[in-house]
Amino acid sequence: MDLFNVYKRWNIEPVRGQGSTLWDAAGQEYLDLYGGHAVISVGHGHPKYVAAVAEQLGKLGFYSNAVQNSLQDTLAAKLGKVSGYDGFHLFLCNSGAEANENALKLASFHTGRAKVLAFGGAFHGRTSGAVSVTDNPKIRAPFNATPNVAFVPLGDLDATEKELATESYAAVIIEGIQGVAGIQVPSDGFLQELRALCDRTGTLLVLDEIQSGCGRTGKFFAHQHAGVEADLVTMAKGLAGGIPIGAVLISPAIQASYGLLGTTFGGNHLACAAAIAVLDIIDGEGLMAHAEKLGAWFEAELKGDPALVEYRGRGLMIGLEIKPEHEGLRDRLLFEKHIFTGASGAGVIRLLPALNLPEEGARQFVEAWKALTR
Ligand SMILES: Cc1ncc(COP(=O)(O)O)c(C=O)c1O
Repeated sequence: MDLFNVYKRWNIEPVRGQGSTLWDAAGQEYLDLYGGHAVISVGHGHPKYVAAVAEQLGKLGFYSNAVQNSLQDTLAAKLGKVSGYDGFHLFLCNSGAEANENALKLASFHTGRAKVLAFGGAFHGRTSGAVSVTDNPKIRAPFNATPNVAFVPLGDLDATEKELATESYAAVIIEGIQGVAGIQVPSDGFLQELRALCDRTGTLLVLDEIQSGCGRTGKFFAHQHAGVEADLVTMAKGLAGGIPIGAVLISPAIQASYGLLGTTFGGNHLACAAAIAVLDIIDGEGLMAHAEKLGAWFEAELKGDPALVEYRGRGLMIGLEIKPEHEGLRDRLLFEKHIFTGASGAGVIRLLPALNLPEEGARQFVEAWKALTR
């Protein structure tokens, strides 16, 4: 058997990591500003994280949701405290797509309505329900096209208002910051108006914070910069630092009943211990403040850079839209300067580093950037 060939892979295999440094088998060193796609929130091999995960695996790595699991309660309490969503309920699953599937299903159960409004350029995952709220035909099979979903352009308040007025929607789903679309930040005003529109029409507001959450922008969730509260918030990626996890934060207005949602692996002991360790590190080491400060440093260094069409982002969720003459820059950063970055199509380099990226790493990137673009 061989692998189903769906990933475009670099011919590099990291075998070891520490903080924001990776090494391949030959001992070559790389700076990691990609974090395995925003997953490595507290750096590779953080000693407290490694100790917590190893200790839990030595005790009990997994048991199902048929028994008590106080690690889930501990995680819920910590997540409530660090996120400011104290009064909400928590449902644990295994990935971002699964978190969004559950959030949309809950919104539909709760409102008794079928329709969901989503935004152009959105990405909410690749499972059937999650991909149906994404308007990219390349990843949405004909099977996933449904009359229950409509799209409006991100930031278009008139179109959003018109759509919500014409039909009864169960939910509006929006990313705290659009990632795949090239780091598009909805304005604070737009999020505030959207919240008000949802309130007026009895529509639930689902905030997908899978990429933009977990402290990356300097607040725990990106939408909190706008001072709004969602009805459902979805998380995954950085929450357990690399152990698969998904989470739905659920408004207290939404009732649970036995069997409404469920999963075999969700909330398992290993994932909970990993997520608890991540939250302790983020909170205990002031990583949200660090992310905000380092993000401001990147912005001061690179905004208006001659190689850029635009600098976008917040904190350590950064999109660098490069001028066409610099196409290929991401590969050059990797192969000539040994720096991992992310991308959104050919034109945008995405930085999604660990929240504890040292200032030295940020400086190394800017020096490499300037050396390759001048
Ligand atoms: C905003 C957003 N939502 C959902 C997902 C899907 O998460 P997963 O790949 O864990 O299913 C992603 C993944 O990139 C994402 O960025």
